[in-house]
Amino acid sequence: MPEPRFQAPKTRVFELEVLQGLVPFVLNEILDLAGAKMIQKNEESIRFLYAAKTEKLSHFRKAIAVYLVSQFAIPRPKALLGNQQFAQLLSAIRWVMAEQPFQSFRFEAAGKDSSVFNRLAEELSKALEIPFEPEEGELMLRVRPFPDGWEVLIRLTPRPLSARPWRVCNMAGGLNASLAAVMNELARPKPHERYLNAMCGSGTLLIEQALKSPCKALTGVDIRQEALDCARKNLNAAALSKVQLINADITKYELEQPFDVITADLPWGDAIGSHKANAELYPAFLAAVARGSSHHARLVILTHEIKLFETLLKKDKNWTLKQSIRVSHSGHYPRIYLLHKV
Ligand SMILES: C[S@@+](CC[C@H](N)C(=O)[O-])C[C@H]1O[C@@H](n2cnc3c(N)ncnc32)[C@H](O)[C@@H]1O
Repeated sequence: MPEPRFQAPKTRVFELEVLQGLVPFVLNEILDLAGAKMIQKNEESIRFLYAAKTEKLSHFRKAIAVYLVSQFAIPRPKALLGNQQFAQLLSAIRWVMAEQPFQSFRFEAAGKDSSVFNRLAEELSKALEIPFEPEEGELMLRVRPFPDGWEVLIRLTPRPLSARPWRVCNMAGGLNASLAAVMNELARPKPHERYLNAMCGSGTLLIEQALKSPCKALTGVDIRQEALDCARKNLNAAALSKVQLINADITKYELEQPFDVITADLPWGDAIGSHKANAELYPAFLAAVARGSSHHARLVILTHEIKLFETLLKKDKNWTLKQSIRVSHSGHYPRIYLLHKV
């Protein structure tokens, strides 16, 4: 009997959608995917080649979404309806759908309401046997031009990667989970260290840290009980029971033991708080976390009050600035600050 021939898996092109400022951190995640080869990057996306079909492709914690890229040497999207192109598109979509069920699909494209996209939706719906839902469709097909034609980016997951399954409670001003993962990475908490998320809100930073690696203590403090109730719901959904939540004003609360890592997504003064209140809150916060931290502590802050925060830092004797990163978040450009205790 002839030996079965080994068939090397086909190498495919994938794109990661990334928040501005986070590309270097997501590149590290690509290095963790053995065999993946980065081929292109810009401020908000990274392309890489990868040959296997694995669950790992949907495990990027610091990217917004991951797509399979299918390219077509065609002059306009109408040509996607041609036999050869339609077959190529179907085969790429079926590859994505093979292990991940999708209930519906939608387009994200300029002119997605045009008659051409309506025809494409009809044909795809017949072939895939799932309905076209223009607003809520799970399988997202992003159609856009590239220098030699058009490409279709097929999102591998029904929801963005940054929409974590543990998030059952949302809060105005809630932090993007991929940004939280990066803030925790900058702080580098070790298993024997104590971690405090001051002003924890719905608990994003706490949960991202607890799921990544344990700490000796994980504590969240927030002045609003409803924020803590929301955080507890999210912690329960993530099956995390050992995180302590304290209802207190962080500027007045005397921490019993010093913390080694402190993270905070401070109020920006628009959706939460006010610029006037921040002028008092920010210096009081910096003084409080200096009192409640160990001599080798790291403080990681996200804020949009850049002028206020940098003015305070210049005068502050407790913290030294190690890194500052401009990032995008919900249409704003806040900064992450990594500070070490002096
Ligand atoms: C931008 S939100 C934090 C969002 C949070 N990272 C999340 O993912 O949901 C800021 C939080 O600071 C809290 N806060 C404001 N002033 C505070 C204070 N003095 N002490 C403790 N918490 C405070 C607010 O209640 C709010 O939940």
